[in-house]
Amino acid sequence: MIITNVKNIITHKTRGNSSTPERLIDTSIEVADGKIVNFSRHYKLNQHKKEKIIDAGNKAVIPGFIECHTHTVFGGSRIDDFARRSRGESYIEILKAGGGINHTVKCTRETASEQLFELAISRITRFIEYGITTLEIKSGYGLSTTEELRLLSVINKLRKKSPIDIIATFLGAHTFPPEYRENKEEYINIIINEMLPLVHRKRLAQFCDIFCEVGAFDIEQTERILNTAKKYGFALKIHADQLNNIGASKLAAALECTSADHLDRIDDTSISALKNSGTTAVLLPYATLFTGHTTFPPARKMIDAGLRVAISTDFNPGSSYTFNLPFCATLGITQMKMSIDEALMAITINAAYAIGRERRKGSIEIGKDADLILLNTDDYRELFYYPDPSLINTVISKGKVIYPLCE
Ligand code: NIG
Ligand code: FE
Repeated sequence: MIITNVKNIITHKTRGNSSTPERLIDTSIEVADGKIVNFSRHYKLNQHKKEKIIDAGNKAVIPGFIECHTHTVFGGSRIDDFARRSRGESYIEILKAGGGINHTVKCTRETASEQLFELAISRITRFIEYGITTLEIKSGYGLSTTEELRLLSVINKLRKKSPIDIIATFLGAHTFPPEYRENKEEYINIIINEMLPLVHRKRLAQFCDIFCEVGAFDIEQTERILNTAKKYGFALKIHADQLNNIGASKLAAALECTSADHLDRIDDTSISALKNSGTTAVLLPYATLFTGHTTFPPARKMIDAGLRVAISTDFNPGSSYTFNLPFCATLGITQMKMSIDEALMAITINAAYAIGRERRKGSIEIGKDADLILLNTDDYRELFYYPDPSLINTVISKGKVIYPLCE
């Protein structure tokens, strides 16, 4: 495949642990076997090669977006939580009263695997319309050994059947299920002695994540679970410092987690700890907005301290029902004082770091996967000024056009 007539390529160059802006003007992108193989100023068509030619229309091309934190596989709806919050109840009050995540657990358990798969496929179709070419998906609405394995199997079926790359994360420690609310130790034993060994043996997930929060898992429980996960070879993530700072991001640094996510209430010493451990900060500003909070994560401080910052939707039925990753980047710009270029980086190369894919994805560089977005504008900043799918002309995943699909 050759993409011709590209007015400008807006991307980042990665060297070691740092990325710098890279702009290429008036060029063509050559793709072979799903990878970027060359850029050429004056590409001459070879009559003998039957190459597919895509005309970028003298517009901009940017890397496919990487959505690094989602809960895409679930059944049911949380519209009643939404109404309860509108009457003043908080996210944690609803969770403690048995609603929240546990309501979705009940609905998900009642939904057949085929149905969960179909629901997820239609959600992935929506993500693609927003330019997403790599998607992380967590389990976490099963909360029993059988149910967590079932959700991970659905995620792995999505990996095989979906046109974009899917990364699986085990989140058996999302919250305590109702059966174990009075016997938390027993549920932790099940995670440690049953779930982790099985998920590892069946190779169902690369990452292990946990919700470390007042009302969910405390620091000591988080440490125990993640240390076991580490022994099994999982890479680690923590939902940290979202509603309260109980030391979760410091623990993420100590455990050398790949990412620490949320961080609305992080403090200065934890920012430098995360920087020193090479952990990526994944910020989820739409979850902050949707749960009615006004304290956004301190992205400016983090970036100025040298911490790598990614942004994600946190797509889930309770705290963030949106597929619009570009809009989340807009929140980075308007609410967290990020530059437009930093926001682009946060949903491309830095998000690739958050899922350990920085060598293959997240930038338009020779040797990387040909995951590309062809815009309907030559000014990429427009997509954050007006975060709407109408600005996305074509989405390419590993050298194949996946949007729009023509018969
Ligand atoms: O990332 N905080 C915990 N987990 C999700 C919310 C899941 C839910 O509410 O269903 C989050 O915000
Ligand atoms: Fe989450």
